[in-house]
Amino acid sequence: MKPDSVKVTLKTFRFNAETDYLPYYKHYEMKVGKDELILDLLNRIKWEHDGSFSYRRSCRHGICGACGIKVNGRATLACKQNALELVELFGNELLIEPQSKKRVVKDMIIDKKDFWDKHAKVKPYVATDIDPHPEHETKQSIEEFNKFLDSDLCIQCGNCHYACPVVEVNENYLGPAAFNAAYRFTVDTRDEVGEERLKLTAQMESGVWDCVKCFECAEACPKEINPIEKITKLHNLQFEQGVAERNIATRHAEGFLRGMKKYGYLDEADIVSYSEGYLGMYKHLKTAAKMLRAGKIHWHSGIPFINSVPKIKNLNEVQKLIKISQTNKL
Ligand code: SF4
Ligand code: SF4
Ligand code: FES
Repeated sequence: MKPDSVKVTLKTFRFNAETDYLPYYKHYEMKVGKDELILDLLNRIKWEHDGSFSYRRSCRHGICGACGIKVNGRATLACKQNALELVELFGNELLIEPQSKKRVVKDMIIDKKDFWDKHAKVKPYVATDIDPHPEHETKQSIEEFNKFLDSDLCIQCGNCHYACPVVEVNENYLGPAAFNAAYRFTVDTRDEVGEERLKLTAQMESGVWDCVKCFECAEACPKEINPIEKITKLHNLQFEQGVAERNIATRHAEGFLRGMKKYGYLDEADIVSYSEGYLGMYKHLKTAAKMLRAGKIHWHSGIPFINSVPKIKNLNEVQKLIKISQTNKL
């Protein structure tokens, strides 16, 4: 039987951008009950140990998105997360940190300006000319509504954004929450600026093609929105509406499909020559040598007009699956 309470140490990040030169960690020990949430523990630090401890919270019901933090490196919504569940996972010392240490204003409070600015760029609202004296409401069918139902659950907590490794290294990258919003309003039949959003999210460096598909955003989302799925849908919409830019990333996606259709296998050499050109292949000669030794490519791989990959058995089955996946609404 699980105990009703457990002694826990909270190793807590502390920093005041106005007065501290460097951040530090303070330890707080407390007995944690089985029904307590991480937010209850933050409250207890403030109320029982140190009134200067700072964090954001408002609704306490997973609605306002204010209380996103990291516990042992895992993105968490403090008011939704049971504390002893994390003790079971990580042990009796919990590391309490803000979503992004480099943006800290005070303790758990970070400056989310980059998040809000990027969100605003995708026009996260239904953009249309509204008749000031409408004679009837603008209805949505259930099918239309279902297209964006889950992405509409976003509470802008920023957990996915600050868990994303590309956001960390590329200040232009719009990030998973902005892409989720771009998708949500682009597929809304009442909206009129979908093409503008698709063009914006198609750009290299800032757009969806710079996603490295690590799935961190899906793990981090407390609303189970799965932003990477919306990123994939934006890829498809860009191709469907003819706004996908011709660049390494889009050619890589096309090259992948090309090999699968032709052989049922990924043609590693063809995908490089197709996406980067024959000159671009020289950059990868070292990797190619390793792949050759490992039997992943053959000596004639990548040479034009030579089929370098053996065809899979039942290739027609793979081709049928590709066709279905392209015609079915995903
Ligand atoms: S899957 Fe893409 S958007 Fe999501 S965290 Fe990884 S790089 Fe960022
Ligand atoms: S997609 Fe999920 S994790 Fe990202 S901001 Fe919205 S609710 Fe938070
Ligand atoms: S306090 Fe509002 S989502 Fe946690």
